[in-house]
Amino acid sequence: MLTPNYIKNLKPYVPGKPIEELQREFNIERIYKIASNENSLGPSPKAVEAMINYMSESHRYPEVGAFDLRNKISKKFNLKIENIAVGNGSEGIMANALRSFLCDGEEIISSESTFIGFQVLARGRANKYVEVPMLPGKYKFDLDGILNAVNSNTKIIYLCNPNNPTGTIFTKKEFEEFIKKIPENILVMIDEAYFEYATMYPEYPDSLFYRFDNVITLRTFSKIYGIAGIRLGYGFARNEIVETIMKVKLPFEPSIIAQAAGIAALDDDDFVKMSLEMNREGYNFLTSELSNLNIKWIPSYANFIMIDMGKEEYVVKLNDYMLKNGIIIRPLKAFGLPHCIRVTIGTPEENNAFVDYLRKYLKK
Ligand SMILES: Cc1ncc(COP(=O)(O)O)c(C=O)c1O
Repeated sequence: MLTPNYIKNLKPYVPGKPIEELQREFNIERIYKIASNENSLGPSPKAVEAMINYMSESHRYPEVGAFDLRNKISKKFNLKIENIAVGNGSEGIMANALRSFLCDGEEIISSESTFIGFQVLARGRANKYVEVPMLPGKYKFDLDGILNAVNSNTKIIYLCNPNNPTGTIFTKKEFEEFIKKIPENILVMIDEAYFEYATMYPEYPDSLFYRFDNVITLRTFSKIYGIAGIRLGYGFARNEIVETIMKVKLPFEPSIIAQAAGIAALDDDDFVKMSLEMNREGYNFLTSELSNLNIKWIPSYANFIMIDMGKEEYVVKLNDYMLKNGIIIRPLKAFGLPHCIRVTIGTPEENNAFVDYLRKYLKK
């Protein structure tokens, strides 16, 4: 009686299987979780140190405007503080943006097979959510298709670059062609959760570079900085957008500990460098092993690789086998890709374990 139908029918976000659950289920001590694109090196040590130092301040509410954190981000990216929003993860900012800008009857457009977190937020509203098919066979956003889906009710377009779970990007050229045709009264949300991994590629567009009035760029501390559990994200946009998002957010998000962690993490260049190196080596190792095993993988610009197993039943069997052996990977049925899995590029030990068990599974 209380719950409206669009909420009743909402499929909740199902994250990668938690380590503790698998330990209980199979009584295995050693678990490798390569399912949620976390940083297997752990959290940034500088962030950890700052969080410990701030524990003794945790009886205090944080400052509502998160001034120090936003100031730090503004210096790092050479922007004004008025152009920086923060929230409980980048998902927190997405939620606040939907709450702020989407009115009754207005529509959201995105691609199929993109970040489920956004889908859940979008479908959690009574508004129409349009999913445009990907480019056939390429696992890439079809920006022309998205453009064609725009109508007078469209209010928000969500783009994920690199895209989770496919790892593909749209290029600078593709983005420039697209954005100039989008009416200015449509808010384009560009989710760059994996920005740090992709930015070394010259064809990758850093959406911040363009300074469009109707674009909000979203970034996170959950991936390369390794503090997903702390929930801290940030966004860049023009003053009006940022002011609005900061107005509707929960007054005290992000927490005092999260703010301290973020400020410190932004200075942890050594950790970022180490994470990027580990990722590059892991990517080269995994992709060459997958090719040796004749398994189809999709070139990735992020810290994960999507693998096309051909059929859903192969995915189900492989996933069961991996779980029994203490390896958590991500089957992609919920993303609309039942024949695919996603593996996070982990430490050499995790990558080796995945390849070893994959080899054993294929020999069975
Ligand atoms: C594309 C994308 N956006 C956002 C997030 C979540 O970011 P946050 O932890 O900052 O909410 C993820 C996490 O998997 C992601 O893959």
